[in-house]
Amino acid sequence: MSTNFQHRLAVVTGASSGIGLAVCELLLQRGARVLAFSRRLGALESQQARYSEQLHWCAGDVTDIDALHALAERAGRLGAVDYLVPNAGIARLAPGCDLQAFEQQWQVNGAGALNTFAVLKPHLARPASVVFISTFLRQLGFAGLGGYIASKAALSALVRSLALEHAGEGLRLNLVSPGPTATPIWGSLGLADDALAGVASEVNKRLVDGEFLSPQAIAEVVLFQLSNGARGVYGQDWVVDKGYTLQ
Ligand SMILES: NC(=O)c1ccc[n+]([C@@H]2O[C@H](COP(=O)([O-])OP(=O)(O)OC[C@H]3O[C@@H](n4cnc5c(N)ncnc54)[C@H](OP(=O)(O)O)[C@@H]3O)[C@@H](O)[C@H]2O)c1
Repeated sequence: MSTNFQHRLAVVTGASSGIGLAVCELLLQRGARVLAFSRRLGALESQQARYSEQLHWCAGDVTDIDALHALAERAGRLGAVDYLVPNAGIARLAPGCDLQAFEQQWQVNGAGALNTFAVLKPHLARPASVVFISTFLRQLGFAGLGGYIASKAALSALVRSLALEHAGEGLRLNLVSPGPTATPIWGSLGLADDALAGVASEVNKRLVDGEFLSPQAIAEVVLFQLSNGARGVYGQDWVVDKGYTLQ
């Protein structure tokens, strides 16, 4: 799969950090053109100088439908979109009955991802590959993350049906469900440093080598699902979690 990304066009949301950034970097290394979307430029800035011809950035929020239309319009000017990764996501600690917290996370993780696909769909090439990002927790419980998990579980469920609805049009839709991955999202949960260290230490006990995944390890799987190597894979949700969900 080393060459089949050459000159192809990819759109990645949540591209300024973590997993989205790693997906962008890998696509750029493999010769793809990337239209990146996020509210902040963040760590993409260093890639801009290196890949000035290949990398395009569109500032915006996935909860803002006008911003998504601006993204689609920009993509349309660059050409047909071969790969789409609606990756933007947030996680907030809140009691399970806090429906406001659920709604806030659904707007980004669920509706944001689905609206990204809906708005970009007319600009997708045929064939094209779309990889949504769910979570290893989508079928588990985790105290304080009920709203987050529910938003991702609903996304996973919806994408399975969407995959069937669009398979006949040459669109291949799948999901990757990352396990605990070393990105800034953990620091945004709202936990004090010592509490976060405690959670990380408990999580590490369930990982085969005792360490969080790297964003690159998730990005490699996303790129495989995007690639022609995965041409027979439809509507699947691959968990990449160093064994967390096995125990
Ligand atoms: N890290 C993990 O352990 C883990 C595990 C399972 C699933 N995931 C999922 O993986 C995805 C990437 O997360 P990450 O771990 O890489 O976290 P991250 O480093 O915090 O990155 C999140 C990205 O989403 C963007 N974003 C957030 N809200 C947005 C909005 N309203 N509109 C546009 N962009 C927005 C952020 O950019 P701006 O702030 O610049 O907008 C950032 O680029 C998420 O969907 C997350 O739920 C992560």
